[in-house]
Amino acid sequence: MPVFTNEETKLFHLQTKNTSYIFQIIANGAAGQVYYGAKVPVKPSYSNLMTMEEHDCTNTLSEENTSFQLELIKQEYATQGKGDFREAAYVIQYPDGSRTSEFEYQGYQVEKGKKRLPGLPSSFDDEGTDATSLTVTFKDRLYDLTMNLHYTVFNDDDVIVRSTSFENKGDTVMIDRALSAQLDLPDDNYDLLQFSGTWARERHLYRNHLRPGTQSVASRRINSSHHENPAIILARPNTDNNQGEAFGFNLVYSGSFLDTVEVDQFNTTRVVTGIHPDDFSWQLEAGQSFQTPEAILSYTNAGMNALSQQMGHFYRDHLINPHFAKEDRPILINNWEATFMDFTEEKLMKIVTKAKETGIEMFVLDDGWFGHRDNDLTSLGDWFVDQKKFLNGVGGFASRVHKLGMKFGLWFEPEMISIDSKLYEDHPDWMIQTKGRLATPARHQFVLDMARQEVVDDIFNKMSAVIKDTKLDYIKWDMNRTITEAFTATLPANRQQEFAHRYILGVYQLYERLTQAFPSVLFESCASGGGRFDLGMMYYAPQAWCSDDTDAVERIYIQDGTSYGYIPSMWGAHVSAVPNDQVGRVTSLDTRAKVAYFGAFGYELDLNELSEEEQETVKEQVAFYKQQRHLFQHGTFYRIDSPDTATDNVYGWQVVNDDQSEAIAVRFQILNEPNPGYIRFYFTGLDPEKTYQVNDDEETYSGAELMNAGYFVARIMPRSASPKPLADFNATMFVVKAVD
Ligand code: GLA
Repeated sequence: MPVFTNEETKLFHLQTKNTSYIFQIIANGAAGQVYYGAKVPVKPSYSNLMTMEEHDCTNTLSEENTSFQLELIKQEYATQGKGDFREAAYVIQYPDGSRTSEFEYQGYQVEKGKKRLPGLPSSFDDEGTDATSLTVTFKDRLYDLTMNLHYTVFNDDDVIVRSTSFENKGDTVMIDRALSAQLDLPDDNYDLLQFSGTWARERHLYRNHLRPGTQSVASRRINSSHHENPAIILARPNTDNNQGEAFGFNLVYSGSFLDTVEVDQFNTTRVVTGIHPDDFSWQLEAGQSFQTPEAILSYTNAGMNALSQQMGHFYRDHLINPHFAKEDRPILINNWEATFMDFTEEKLMKIVTKAKETGIEMFVLDDGWFGHRDNDLTSLGDWFVDQKKFLNGVGGFASRVHKLGMKFGLWFEPEMISIDSKLYEDHPDWMIQTKGRLATPARHQFVLDMARQEVVDDIFNKMSAVIKDTKLDYIKWDMNRTITEAFTATLPANRQQEFAHRYILGVYQLYERLTQAFPSVLFESCASGGGRFDLGMMYYAPQAWCSDDTDAVERIYIQDGTSYGYIPSMWGAHVSAVPNDQVGRVTSLDTRAKVAYFGAFGYELDLNELSEEEQETVKEQVAFYKQQRHLFQHGTFYRIDSPDTATDNVYGWQVVNDDQSEAIAVRFQILNEPNPGYIRFYFTGLDPEKTYQVNDDEETYSGAELMNAGYFVARIMPRSASPKPLADFNATMFVVKAVD
């Protein structure tokens, strides 16, 4: 039983395989956080950990109970107004305008399994065999308002899923802030790892030691954004990929979010995560309830590879659409960087035919197939085929692709509208705008009000017709601008701050309906690359286009950062042409493929423009990836920490299969070095007892030798080499197989 409760001490102890999460009801009737970390035995109480001492100059619970000082108390889900001045997890505004809450413990319920949240992406245990869920209920002292703290523990995963819901039976209140989870830790000796960047430079790792005050990552863009990602890690300063303590946090949400880490006056740390409270409030009338998105919390003392792996394992089993979660994804070719919008059916067929010859499995027709979209000024919202480009419709083109034995995918940008479109002619009011204000264009386009039911219905109908007509296998769902002039005609003036969340709920509804109606269509989410790379999307779309930047070097940084919070099957990675479209860099076809192998692999170029030799190489790459695809997409992923990777010039990644009989590692060296010394590559995650072959070496090696003593890496280029190869941006691959 992973959830232990003690009625008398009102203590709750959640145990996963290796961790304990403990909280207890405290004197004011709220929940106090006791401990989260490596597993400890179950006890009726931990009074030593809950000792309270009176400190000067702080507020107390009452005249009688002066050692109960909220400022010093670690809580589970804190509000403001009663003497805790740290970042609040929730704030309610009452009918008299006051914003001070007092919720008192009422009771709890333990249930087998984990139900999906209606209308929101969420974790699940559909069979009810893997999870135990705990709901702890609190009631407002003055109002008929209930607050539920939800927790779920999964048998096989060192993960705790948390969320909160409010149910109102009394006077209307406004929820001004309702984050998903809070965690108070007893000290501040942590580094914050965040994954930040911008368009074409998403999710670079930044690691900084905590300091007093608040440090946040956030998005106010109504998408999770290129700029910050909801995934964060708190790690002890000595924690690396192989050892040490780390807490991981991620949010199952795709809109504006806030992750705040606050170090207070007593050097304790509070983490809160959830919907960004700026531009959020929610009117809750009698009979209504509000459910926050879920937050994922995970702890390990075995380093950050273990943290990423345990979170990834959980995503695979309990978050990603089970239809695809463990399936091998097709190798695709996408025409975007090959043609942009300048194509004819015949030009595309040439790419398709060549792709078929090389063994590629799916053709994805990107932007430009609908309305009269020859450039980005027009036609978004008109999801019917451009007859000029496809005489027999896109259905006709799709059947030509299918006849060749290839799958067929299409690009949509469902949430968008162009002024030059039939949709705008018919429904100008469906566009998000604030009456009387200038509309702010981005990429010449505007956004549909997804909070309007008729908008969601209309897009659903149009997309469904195309899916049926083309017998579609895959959809790339793009979202290429952020929202400005936020406003919806569906809500009265005093409720406009619900818009941002309602927009996302509309997006989720459309995803839900399409994935239900067409369960075999694989969705890849995209937002100008990785602008909505989050767990909310992953619930529906098991993979996401990692970045518009397909340069192999930039992708090393992006995919390395991404790997802390997500697994390779989640990230789309393609080989594109050189000089690279985003940075002009020339890297070898070999390196481009070796970076893209780690992920849902594909190509994004016109194969006909490659030399015959290069086309042969592509064939070999495709054949190799097919053989190793399961390992690359679903193997256990490691970032290699070794003396060699201690600088930013060298990165190492490795995937290992479940029984440790197969592994592939790649060592990336960005710039070549003159006259290097002898270098060793240290494998990880192998079985020390097994004997392995590396590539086609005659000598064999024990796992212990490969991991502890290392493996010699030949220099990239002897000085005598002639002709000189492209020696920068090198990728050396090691295919490792157990031989006994
Ligand atoms: C975005 C995507 C690209 C491509 C274009 C099409 O930028 O990230 O991959 O689909 O839109 O307009």
